[in-house]
Parts: sequence; structure tokens; C-alpha cells
Amino acid sequence: MRIDIITVIPELLESPLSHSILKRAQEKGILDLHIHPLREYGIGPNRQLDDYQYGGGAGLVMMVEPLAKCIEKLKSEVDYDEIIYLTPDGKTLNQSKANELSLKGNLMLICGHYKGIDERIRENYITLDISIGDFVLSGGELAACVLVDSLVRLIPGVLNDGTSALFDSFQDDLLAPPIYTRPYEYKGWKVPDVLLSGNDKLIDEWRYEKSLKRTKERRPDLLE
Ligand code: ADE
Repeated sequence: MRIDIITVIPELLESPLSHSILKRAQEKGILDLHIHPLREYGIGPNRQLDDYQYGGGAGLVMMVEPLAKCIEKLKSEVDYDEIIYLTPDGKTLNQSKANELSLKGNLMLICGHYKGIDERIRENYITLDISIGDFVLSGGELAACVLVDSLVRLIPGVLNDGTSALFDSFQDDLLAPPIYTRPYEYKGWKVPDVLLSGNDKLIDEWRYEKSLKRTKERRPDLLE
């Protein structure tokens, strides 16, 4: 999968996207990630990217021209499946959307800043608006990192144990069951014996019951 991210602050993306699973995905050639500093497309000697809002109001707006030029250049080189704008007014990201996007070939992500981007970019280029939750971040970069992490780990071959993403919370609309590792006992707190029984059927049943219980208690909306 190829992912291109357009941003005003590339530094915000560099560390989160260059460690652990995302690092391995790139080393394995499964993820081809490109970060594009929008400043290079800024206008005039100051490489201006934002301006006042028509009609008045607080907050600067990202201008059409730098974004349009950057998007057009990328589109002339790559055929994108989706051009995604990270925004609090987008559709809320969930596991099902991450699964769907993990099957795509080429994605472009646009990180907004200041008050947001000029609506004409949204009307003419954006194919999908995504929010990572009902709260407002200072920019789209952290949201882009969340989106990229959530979908890249689902691409076959990215995780070492090919099945482990299947047991993530939400993968079957249930929260994940409790997990334990060694030692068996710490301060008198023991690991449930069923997990040491070696009986796969019993273990699966126990995990399913615990998942269901946890979901009922914490996220009953998932069961509706
Ligand atoms: N940009 C600012 N807030 C955001 C959010 N909640 N989700 C995605 N992008 C954002």
C-alpha cells in the first residue's frame, strides 16, 4: 500500500510513523509512505499557506492554491483510491472502516491546520472525510497517525503472527478478553487456571465469555 500525507508540520508525523509495526511494514516493502511538506507549495517569499476567513470570524483558513497544487502533482503521479481529509466533522473511524481501507492500494491523506481547509478543496478533491472521535485536535497530523496505524496493522503480512489482528478488540464487534503472561502468580494474584489447561476449546469458550461480559459492561452499544 502507498500512503501520501500532506502536512504543514512533517515533524509531527515522523516519529509516530517510523517505529515498531509501521517501521517493519516499511522495511518489508508492504507500506510505501511519503510525507509531503505543504510549505514547499506556499505562496510568495513567506511561503504563505493560510489567510483570513471570508465573512469574518476567528481563525485562519488553509488556502486553496498550495493544497490544490500539491494534490494535483501527486495525482499526476499516482492513481488514488481515496483522498482523505482528517477532520472532526468527518465520519468517525471504527474497525470496520480500518478493515475496508486496509484493502486499498493508494491513499492520500490531508492534514488540516488552523481553522481548517478552504471548502473548495473538499468539494473538488476529497473523496472521504474521517474523524478519529468527537473532540477537536490542533491539527490533522495526530489523527493521520492514528488512521495509518489502525489500517496498516491489518494488511496481511504486517503482523508477525498473521492471526493476531483477528483477536483485537472490535474485530468481531466485541472487546478483547483479558490477557496474562508469566509469572503464574504475583502477590497472590493468579492467572485463571483454564489458560494453563492446554484445552483449546475450553480456552476459546472462556475468552468468548469474557469478551462478551466486558462488552456488555463497557460498551453495550456494540451489541445492539
Ligand atoms: N482534526 C482535528 N480534530 C480532528 C479529529 N477529531 N479527527 C480527525 N481530524 C481532526
